[in-house]
Amino acid sequence: MNSIKDQENLSQKKVLLRLDLNVPLKNGVITDETRIDKIIPIVKFLIEKKSKIIVISHVGRPKGKFDKILSLKPICENLEKKIKKKIKLFDENVFNLKKNDLFKNSDDQIVFLENIRFYKEEEKNDASFAKHLAGLADFYVNDAFSCSHRSHASVSKITEFLPSFAGIQLESEINALRKVTTEIKKPTTCIIGGSKISTKIGIIKNLIPKFDNIVIVGGMANNIVSYKGNNIGKSIKEENCEAAIIEIFETLKKHPCKITFPEDVLVGKNMDDNSKVKELTNIEDDDLILDIGPKTIKKIKKIIETSKTILWNGPAGYFENPNFAEGSYEIANAIVKKNKDNSIYSVVGGGDTIALINQINVIQDFNFVSTAGGAFLEYLEGKELPGIKALN
Ligand code: 3PG
Repeated sequence: MNSIKDQENLSQKKVLLRLDLNVPLKNGVITDETRIDKIIPIVKFLIEKKSKIIVISHVGRPKGKFDKILSLKPICENLEKKIKKKIKLFDENVFNLKKNDLFKNSDDQIVFLENIRFYKEEEKNDASFAKHLAGLADFYVNDAFSCSHRSHASVSKITEFLPSFAGIQLESEINALRKVTTEIKKPTTCIIGGSKISTKIGIIKNLIPKFDNIVIVGGMANNIVSYKGNNIGKSIKEENCEAAIIEIFETLKKHPCKITFPEDVLVGKNMDDNSKVKELTNIEDDDLILDIGPKTIKKIKKIIETSKTILWNGPAGYFENPNFAEGSYEIANAIVKKNKDNSIYSVVGGGDTIALINQINVIQDFNFVSTAGGAFLEYLEGKELPGIKALN
């Protein structure tokens, strides 16, 4: 990969900078700024080089349609404050923009295009869309490792139309993950949770040969709990996952890896409810599984206790409601405790997981914090990520 740090003559050059500013938002307010903080180095680097920066990012999954709630406006304003520079957000249709429209005022140094997923062409990896975007700039930089597992126009196709470079954060994430995967100390444990079930469920079978323990919590665990014949009430679940789950259990037969999933859970009748501990056999039709229960926590803590390397992606429950945060907090604190006496190497990844460890102020107590969730798991799986392949 060519690194932007090695590129000379960036002065006055227009650089299309793909970032992952997909931060958690609640009613338009950013609830965790880590992904913004992580891209300050590339922005400052390009400012120092006197480049003209055109930021592209997505937030959420608007599925090719304009959605005011998913505007990049609050993120743009947040970055403005952090770098103390005015940023113009172009909210008109990107197809109407031309290269010379972007920096009309000679002092302007950084502009944003509106959420790139407002255009259906983005997720289709559409060539003419990528070509149009490329026409706005002289160079392309990918500093969005966390969405490099997506074969999307502004991540992959665009590299066919512009000289393309790896950004600072992307390089540091790849270097750190490479180190983890090559110098890994056994026993190894991978904890996978969160709500993006479809992104992660297919990955598990490929992680089985690489880990001693796989712990499944969060939304994905519901699919397994349900597959095992339990009622999961109104809980989130991905449809048509049986084949993936069968493959997981078939693969397990061929490897020494142990899999752990919830034995008991915390339920509520809605997301704002109080929590109630339930055995898997007692879940009612109007229950929502929103966290792991005390028996499961105890079991997971034992696994952490005996592990030398731990990789964690995805919270154990709906931690946004404190009544369902216990499982995730207990996992975090068990890892932190071992980290403090240097008896574990810990890597944590994903937007929600970062938000969670920030809530309890332990982000400094992990060996490496990756901004990536799905990309992190696909990298561990050994897959070549489309965004990285494109840069290569
Ligand atoms: C992430 O949050 O993992 C990335 O921004 C990718 O988001 P996606 O899963 O919606 O593609």
